[in-house]
Amino acid sequence: MTTNPDADAACFWNSPMTRAWATEHARVDALFAGVLERALEAAAPRLGERVIDIGCGSGTSVLALAERVGAEGQVLGLDLARESIAVAQRRLTAAGHRQARAEVGDAASYPLPAGGFDLLFSRFGVMFFPDPVAAFRHLHAALRPGGRLCATAFQAPTANPWTSAPAAALRPLLPPQPPAQSDAPGQFGWARAGRPAEILEGAGFREVRVTPQELGFRLGPDAATAARTAMTFGAVARALFEADAATRATAQMALETFFAGHQGPDGVVMPAAIWIVTAQA
Ligand SMILES: C[S@@+](CC[C@H](N)C(=O)[O-])C[C@H]1O[C@@H](n2cnc3c(N)ncnc32)[C@H](O)[C@@H]1O
Repeated sequence: MTTNPDADAACFWNSPMTRAWATEHARVDALFAGVLERALEAAAPRLGERVIDIGCGSGTSVLALAERVGAEGQVLGLDLARESIAVAQRRLTAAGHRQARAEVGDAASYPLPAGGFDLLFSRFGVMFFPDPVAAFRHLHAALRPGGRLCATAFQAPTANPWTSAPAAALRPLLPPQPPAQSDAPGQFGWARAGRPAEILEGAGFREVRVTPQELGFRLGPDAATAARTAMTFGAVARALFEADAATRATAQMALETFFAGHQGPDGVVMPAAIWIVTAQA
């Protein structure tokens, strides 16, 4: 690890531990499809608007935004992960969306024209900045007066059994994990209800609204697929990353048993809780 938190973040998001966000993006998109739908509804992008997609990953939301703003609009997807951006660029080219581009860059410091955008959008890309107020001050400066933000973030782990419950089921098999720190950058960095407003108001935004939404995340059609999904992204994947083959095989079996208890007529669907955060420039 370096002493520069930004460099650490870039290393982390370009490491094998997070590569599945690029290589398995179809699985992520299936899991988070309902989130994107609700976020787009709240953001209400209009024809001709100019949008930044913060932490755009492999570009699913960039594609959706490009369709909504149309040929006269503009979408800039930013992400630290080179492989995710390469996937996003291929998908944009295939879709023929000349109004959208995806660039490797740190959204906290990427050069942006002052007042050049109408909307900051993100699906789960806002909770990772080491200095979030500074990052959002930079992004705020890129919004025109009257511009807006719409981003999704996770509520607390206890409200998200889709990820916390399988991690808890594996706890006896794994070395102790460091306790999660409230407000620390990461998957649950915006989980405390007051946290988004602290950051965004500190960065110059007004009228911050944090709206709770509950969803069901479908981890797969059956317990074996759900186990593989859990082992690919999030808390379980991180906890198992350095595990040996035998531990991984035991974990897969334990997860299959766990998810079998959550199998229903629509597959393995588990509760998830997010915030939809909106704010004005
Ligand atoms: C949880 S993933 C979400 C990806 C995508 N928005 C989606 O919903 O599939 C978080 C993304 O934020 C990106 N990210 C983290 N810190 C970033 C930063 N400072 N600037 C740009 N992207 C960042 C990561 O590389 C990762 O792709």
